[in-house]
Amino acid sequence: MNELIAIVDSAKAAFAHAPTPADLENAKALFLGKAGRITELMKGMAALSVDEKKSRGAAINLAKQAIEAALHERRQALADAEMQAQLHAEAIDVSLPGRLRGQGGLHPVSLTMERIEAIFGSMGFDVAQGPEIESDWFNFTALNTPEDHPARSMHDTFYVEGGSESAPNLLRTHTSPMQIRYAVQHVKKHRSAIDAGLGMPEIRVIAPGRTYRVDSDATHSPMFHQCEGLWVGENVSFKDLKFVFTDFCRSYFESDDLVLRFRPSFFPFTEPSAEIDIQFQSGPLAGRWLEVAGSGEVHPNVIRNMGLDPERYIGFAFGMGPDRLTMLRYGVNDLRLFFDGDIRFLSQFR
Ligand code: PHE
Repeated sequence: MNELIAIVDSAKAAFAHAPTPADLENAKALFLGKAGRITELMKGMAALSVDEKKSRGAAINLAKQAIEAALHERRQALADAEMQAQLHAEAIDVSLPGRLRGQGGLHPVSLTMERIEAIFGSMGFDVAQGPEIESDWFNFTALNTPEDHPARSMHDTFYVEGGSESAPNLLRTHTSPMQIRYAVQHVKKHRSAIDAGLGMPEIRVIAPGRTYRVDSDATHSPMFHQCEGLWVGENVSFKDLKFVFTDFCRSYFESDDLVLRFRPSFFPFTEPSAEIDIQFQSGPLAGRWLEVAGSGEVHPNVIRNMGLDPERYIGFAFGMGPDRLTMLRYGVNDLRLFFDGDIRFLSQFR
């Protein structure tokens, strides 16, 4: 009997020392397997008498049950340990604050551009984009500003490679070259109808984008934005310019509480020409005249450079400053803030 107790004890010890389920199954085979110690003892009973078999068999069975119970217990313990280890490995601290992903937003000037496009879009204007490196022809000459014209000196800019010696390419000083580029395409598309005297659909376009001049202070940046507007047809008058631009300003500022002033001015590519000033009747800016655009009726020479007959076609153009409009809308007093890229400033417009 001591032998059986010894076997049970050594089985318990072997199980207790099995570090993994696989080791445990190997240890089990030593006692309960085909050649295991308990199995061997059973086989050894063959020679015993019936009475001896009874008592010996009962004792061996008790030992076997004890070993099975120990095996079961150890299996459970190993499974629990594995579960604990897994839970530990996958533990999450639900009390930690979340890791927020930084949220981006549109630049305030982009917001203004989107508003401008939406408002003019609702009035039937197309939106066109053009190159920032421009030829002398589109930036000046085609706009009735020949090489010796004094108006060029107000448009000092950055000259780049390309073009000719006397007329190098440049960073465009305004979006007005888009008047020519867009109109020429439009006229080309409708050339045969125009030549047949049938006329053409009106040109109605805005052209927003970056422009450049040698200028830098709180209200001027060497890179700034403009948005050109052009409406050419057979009877498009200064009255239409006034109506359209007034409508735009009231939509843009979401207020009817403002008035416009068309102040006589000069541009080589318009005649007559006017600066457009607005005045708010209430609010923090009330009473001051604020310049927002240059404008006028398109000069006959420019109409000609578009490929059209100025006796038949006429229209208006304007060029406004979206940077300025953004400053007015949000009450920003330094233009440079828009281009510093300071996230503390920019995030206020999200
Ligand atoms: N291009 C002019 C400027 O930059 C503005 C303008 C555009 C004036 C169209 C008249 C017509 O100052």
